[in-house]
Amino acid sequence: MSQSTVGVDANRAAHDHIVRVINEGWLALILSFGERLGLSAALAELGRADVARLSAQTGVGHRYVEDWLWAMAAAGIVDSERDADGADRFFLAPGYADAVTSSGGTGNWGRIAEQLVAMASLEDELVRAARSTGGLPASVYEGRIVDVLAVESGPILEASLIDEVVPLLGVHDRLDRGGLVLDAGCGSGEALAILAAHYPRSRFVGVDQSADAIASARARTLRLGLDNIDLYVADLEDEWPVGVAATEFDLVLAVNVAHDLSDPHLFFRTVRDLLADGGVFGLVELGFDTDMRVNIQHPHAIGVLAFGLYHCLPLAQRRAGIAPGGMWGSRTYVDALGTAGFTDIVLTHAPSDPTNDLIIARNTGSNTAS
Ligand SMILES: C[S@@+](CC[C@H](N)C(=O)[O-])C[C@H]1O[C@@H](n2cnc3c(N)ncnc32)[C@H](O)[C@@H]1O
Repeated sequence: MSQSTVGVDANRAAHDHIVRVINEGWLALILSFGERLGLSAALAELGRADVARLSAQTGVGHRYVEDWLWAMAAAGIVDSERDADGADRFFLAPGYADAVTSSGGTGNWGRIAEQLVAMASLEDELVRAARSTGGLPASVYEGRIVDVLAVESGPILEASLIDEVVPLLGVHDRLDRGGLVLDAGCGSGEALAILAAHYPRSRFVGVDQSADAIASARARTLRLGLDNIDLYVADLEDEWPVGVAATEFDLVLAVNVAHDLSDPHLFFRTVRDLLADGGVFGLVELGFDTDMRVNIQHPHAIGVLAFGLYHCLPLAQRRAGIAPGGMWGSRTYVDALGTAGFTDIVLTHAPSDPTNDLIIARNTGSNTAS
C-alpha cells in the first residue's frame, strides 16, 4: 500500500471517528433531556407507548416527546413498531431499562449524562480560567452542578456504605456505641444521612464549601427527621469552623473530594490531627493507576479526564499546589498519606462501588508527625 493510500485511509477513519463522536455527543444531550424530564423512566414503566401516551404520562409537549423518541431510536436505545393503523409505538431496546433508568442503580448511566450537560454550561468560565491559568471560585459550581453531583454518588453510597465500607473500615461497633464522624466535602449529605439513620447514637458533622450543597443536606436532614447531623459551609483548605477543628473524630470520611484540593498533603495532615486515638480515615478516590498511559486505557478515561478538566482542576487551581485531578492514582494517595504521617494504610475496594477505591488510614498513636 502506498504512503498516499495509507494517508487517505487514515483521513477517512479519522473523519468517521469524529463524526461518530459528534453524533454521540448530541446523544448525551438527548439522554440528559430524557433523564431530567422523566421520559426514559416513563417509557420503561409503560413498556410500549405512542407519542401521545408518553406525552400524557410525563406532561412533556407532544412534539418534544416525538423528536426525543426518534433521536433515541436513531441511537438504537429505543425501538419502534408501526401498528396497522399507521401509529408508531416505542419501547426501550432490550437491556436499556437498567442503563438509562434508576432500576439500574449504580449502572444507570443516564444520570451521568445530566452531569455532562451541566458541566458544558460552564464552558465560558472554564475558557477564561484556562487563559488566565488560574482557577474558578466555588460559587461557579452551585445550583444545578450540586444536583448532578449528588445524583452520581447517591446510588453508589446506598449500595456500598453500610454493608461494605463500614465493615472494611472496622467502625461498626464504635458507631453503634456512639461515635463522632466527620464527612469532609460532604456535598448534599448522602453519606451522612445514610450513616446517621443507621447509627442514631453517633453524631455526624458535614463540611462543604458549597452553600447550595449544605442547604440541600440540611433539607434532607429535616426531611428524614435526623437530629444527629451538624452541617457547616467551609473551605477545607482555609479556616475550618472552630467547633470542628477542636473535635477529635472516630471516623473521618472524604468521598471524591481530595482530588479537588490544591494540596492533598496538607489536607491529610489536618485529618490526622482531627482523628481520635484509634480513629479511622476513609478516603474514597477514583481507582486509577499512577501511570497515565495505563489510565487512558480505562473505559471511563475520557469522562474522568473531562470531568476533571471542568470541575476538579479549576477548583484545585484556585491556589498554588499539586492539583491532582481525577487520575492521581490510588498508590499516590497511599504515599501521600504516608508522607502525612499515617503508618497503617490499607488500599481496598468496596465491591458494589464500580469506580472508586477505598483507602483506609488509621490513627494508631504511632503515626509520625511530618
Ligand atoms: C464530587 S463531590 C463529592 C461530594 C460527596 N462527598 C459525595 O460523595 O456525594 C466533591 C465535593 O467536594 C467539595 N469540595 C471540593 N473542594 C472543596 C474544598 N476546598 N473545601 C470544601 N469542599 C470542597 C465540593 O463542593 C463537592 O461538594
